[in-house]
Amino acid sequence: MSLLRVHREWGNRVAAEYRSAAITARVLHGCIAVGMARELVEVARRIVGDELDHAELCAQCLADLGGGDAPPPLEFAQLAGTRSEDGFVADLVDEVLRSFCLGETFAVPLFAEMRKGTTHPAAEPVLTRVLRDEAIHRQFGWDALDALLELDDEGVRSRAARGLPAMIEGYYRAYGAHADGPSISAEERSMGLMDGATYAAVYEETLTRTIRPWFARRGIEVPA
Ligand SMILES: [Fe+2]
Ligand SMILES: [Fe+2]
Repeated sequence: MSLLRVHREWGNRVAAEYRSAAITARVLHGCIAVGMARELVEVARRIVGDELDHAELCAQCLADLGGGDAPPPLEFAQLAGTRSEDGFVADLVDEVLRSFCLGETFAVPLFAEMRKGTTHPAAEPVLTRVLRDEAIHRQFGWDALDALLELDDEGVRSRAARGLPAMIEGYYRAYGAHADGPSISAEERSMGLMDGATYAAVYEETLTRTIRPWFARRGIEVPA
């Protein structure tokens, strides 16, 4: 059986984890620049290390599954990131909302579900480690959002109102829109792949049961 899809998926995970390290390094810089509490800065610093570890672990898994020949799809432009014209703090707010309040909050139940059916010894320990860390990353996101609200309540709220619809649309396209996608084999499932219907179900449930209520608790409404 061809492991092409397995190799492509783990290659994408290497790139995604490495990109998370780059994003978190920018967020760490932002947290220091706006003078966030030391504890939060230290968590951000730890997350940079976690994400670099995740990238290495995924690369090792890819090699163990026989896919180590092809380079992971890393793109400098994505790693460098872009600055908007709205200023440093606005960019920090956007990154916390997009990558942490949304990204890491979707990641926790997705990795939990993914790990359930993963039995291959190259893949299972990687997902176990990633899952353990992502819960801390998710918490950081909401704590950082609270700190930013304290810093500039009105500014953060208007930034959220403006940015959240497109950000959520992006995650819908990534996770929620492929319920009719191709099925995966039992072997692919054992190596950490998950079908589109499961991605879509976890996406919907997380948006409804976690993300909307957690924003609502802060008086931020997530549009339909
Ligand atoms: Fe990660
Ligand atoms: Fe993470």
